[in-house]
Amino acid sequence: MATNIKRIAVLTSGGDAPGMNAAIRAVVRASIFNNLEVYGVMRGYEGLINGDIVPLVSNSVSNIIQRGGTILKSARSEKFRTLEGRQQAFDNLKKFEIDAVVCIGGDGTFSGALQFNKEHDLPFIGIPGTIDCDLYGTDYTLGFDTALNTAVESIDRIRDTADSHDRLFFVEVMGRDAGFIALYSGIAGGAESILIPESITDTDQLMTTLEKGYQRKKSSMIVVVAEGEDSGGAYKVAEKVKAKFDHFDIRVSILGHIQRGGSPSCADRVLGSRMGIAAVESLLAGKREVMVGIINNEVVLTSFKKAVKHNQEIDLNMMRMVEILSA
Ligand code: F6P
Repeated sequence: MATNIKRIAVLTSGGDAPGMNAAIRAVVRASIFNNLEVYGVMRGYEGLINGDIVPLVSNSVSNIIQRGGTILKSARSEKFRTLEGRQQAFDNLKKFEIDAVVCIGGDGTFSGALQFNKEHDLPFIGIPGTIDCDLYGTDYTLGFDTALNTAVESIDRIRDTADSHDRLFFVEVMGRDAGFIALYSGIAGGAESILIPESITDTDQLMTTLEKGYQRKKSSMIVVVAEGEDSGGAYKVAEKVKAKFDHFDIRVSILGHIQRGGSPSCADRVLGSRMGIAAVESLLAGKREVMVGIINNEVVLTSFKKAVKHNQEIDLNMMRMVEILSA
């Protein structure tokens, strides 16, 4: 389907993720390649509301593919949740004569876009950018691979000191609603146990696993805890274990935003580049209100409605692996 799109805008919203810059670069270069004008919106939806919109040329995105964060900055906009905020955003898009928007972000970003498109006729298309990898409609989200590698490197370092002191560590990784980072980094880091929001924490089972490790004289033990795990995070779980097992020398380490920064991995740079081009080409093909994803190495478009309604399901069989591997 031919479209009248001549000028598009790109924005990043929600938690930043390594690889967002690669996607911005690809959107800009693919737009120029297709003779479109392209604008950057600063600080996500906040920038749409405030009219903080700047023209981008090819050189604007030089030397950014290797940089973490997002050159367009990001925000979690409360104002965009209001009818008035979305109207202001629409007025600014009209003022800047923008015909379509590429939004890079997660669940909140696409829920906002969906709501906006119920009220205003201006095509939005999404690129999944979140370290959490929790979006339906894509195997991987931008930033997940880099965040994982950061988490694994940190766990390896913690393992060294844990081993020197015969200690038990609880390492908290990001993911308030999703356990993908915990599951993958835990398996790769040789964790004794992994606690995630998708499965109810069985504290008795955890105690049994740890005691078994102690009895067989493991010189270090690591439990990876996802931020959103149901019994209250790493400190809380550590307290419970300490109360029961005084013989453990326990430490807690919260990895936090370290996982969100840093130079994107090769996989995230390629993913961002691929998704950025696919987003522009899809807009030109008349697609709207969809998220670009990659499933089984193919570009797949999923409606915002589906992407925000369903979560990517974690493979709970992988939790079994942890039990086997730490025996
Ligand atoms: O959604 C990405 C994420 O990093 C989550 O893993 C984490 O729970 C959240 O963002 C933290 O958000 P903020 O930086 O706004 O505190």
